[in-house]
Amino acid sequence: MTVYDQHSRYLRDLRISVTDRCNFRCRYCMPAEIFDQDYAYLPKGHMLTAEEISRLARVFVSLGVRKLRITGGEPLLRKDLPEIITRLAALDVEDISLTTNGSLLARNASKLKRAGLHRITVSLDALDDDTFLFMNGGRGRVQPVLDGIDAAAAAGLSVKVNMVVQKGVNDSAVLPMVEYFRNKGHILRMVEYMDVGNTNGWNREHVVSTKELLQRIEERWPLEPVEPNYLGEVAARYRFLDGRGEVGFISSVTQAFCASCTRARLSADGTLYTCLFASQGHSLRHLLRSGNSDEQLDGTISSIWTNRHDQYSLERGTGKDSGSTKVEMSHIGG
Ligand code: GTP
Ligand code: 5AD
Ligand code: SF4
Ligand code: SF4
Repeated sequence: MTVYDQHSRYLRDLRISVTDRCNFRCRYCMPAEIFDQDYAYLPKGHMLTAEEISRLARVFVSLGVRKLRITGGEPLLRKDLPEIITRLAALDVEDISLTTNGSLLARNASKLKRAGLHRITVSLDALDDDTFLFMNGGRGRVQPVLDGIDAAAAAGLSVKVNMVVQKGVNDSAVLPMVEYFRNKGHILRMVEYMDVGNTNGWNREHVVSTKELLQRIEERWPLEPVEPNYLGEVAARYRFLDGRGEVGFISSVTQAFCASCTRARLSADGTLYTCLFASQGHSLRHLLRSGNSDEQLDGTISSIWTNRHDQYSLERGTGKDSGSTKVEMSHIGG
């Protein structure tokens, strides 16, 4: 079955956040002064169990979802992550991936692979500890993340690396990152700094545009564009002319990709969001826990998707986007 929203976009991807907690405090996501010990994280009893997650995912699959991504917070903080993956791997999907900060990956990579994970995306913003520690609120050094990436590759997981670029903070880390990861054979994707959530003090001046990054990289290593892997791929792909792999650019600010957005997001407490910048979601946990059948869940989810008209990035700065409080990135996993 295929469901279409108000802009004729079908539902293809489900991004499942399994926890809103994280051991890092990246300033662009969970600034430490806000996400402190008094912050109201989700109560344990509100978190979906592995069984509830897989039940909902199965309903999404029946509505056309083919790609699953596990996110957080930091998903490796969840003790039953291998069980969640095993259950999701039993569903009829093409792709199961995981987004992680990599700090706990070295000791977990082969367990995740054995559970049925296909791919992993590691967030890393610099190769030097000073910059990296500044960005993650002093919570983690670079080497454990690099070790985690090596362990994931050794376990047979295909690896991508995401780098959020902030002007004057880590833009000088771009060329070293490109060089390191092309030599390692992993795809590095540079992400334009976004105005997600309400706490990072985002300002357009802090964004380094994809256009600017492309120019800088091309001066050193000439590139050519590559066709997307699939319709609606978030990253624009470029290949190195010397044959040493590719890089990607995720340009949510300067080249919005809402027109082909096929992504639904489920928070750890079972709330469905139809946009990364949504101000409100729809609680599926209540439906799950009040005895609704799969058919009833199916009906609710398709009606939510059918009514969807989100296109925040396309409308950013037009006045239509202002006003309400947005969901936090750590709540729906990016
Ligand atoms: P692949 O499946 O490997 O193509 O990964 P992906 O690019 O779909 O996902 P990933 O989780 O690696 O996302 C990379 C970055 O893009 C993150 O910072 C996300 O927050 C951002 N991103 C992903 N999907 C969307 C989206 O629908 N809208 C916006 N604005 N940003 C997104
Ligand atoms: N802008 C862009 N990307 C962000 N991420 C988190 N916060 C932001 C932001 N403000 C990225 C993380 C990770 C993914 C889940 O989202 O670096 O790669
Ligand atoms: Fe944690 Fe990822 Fe947010 Fe950083 S970006 S605080 S690692 S969830
Ligand atoms: Fe999709 Fe919202 Fe991102 Fe646009 S801003 S691509 S609608 S998640």
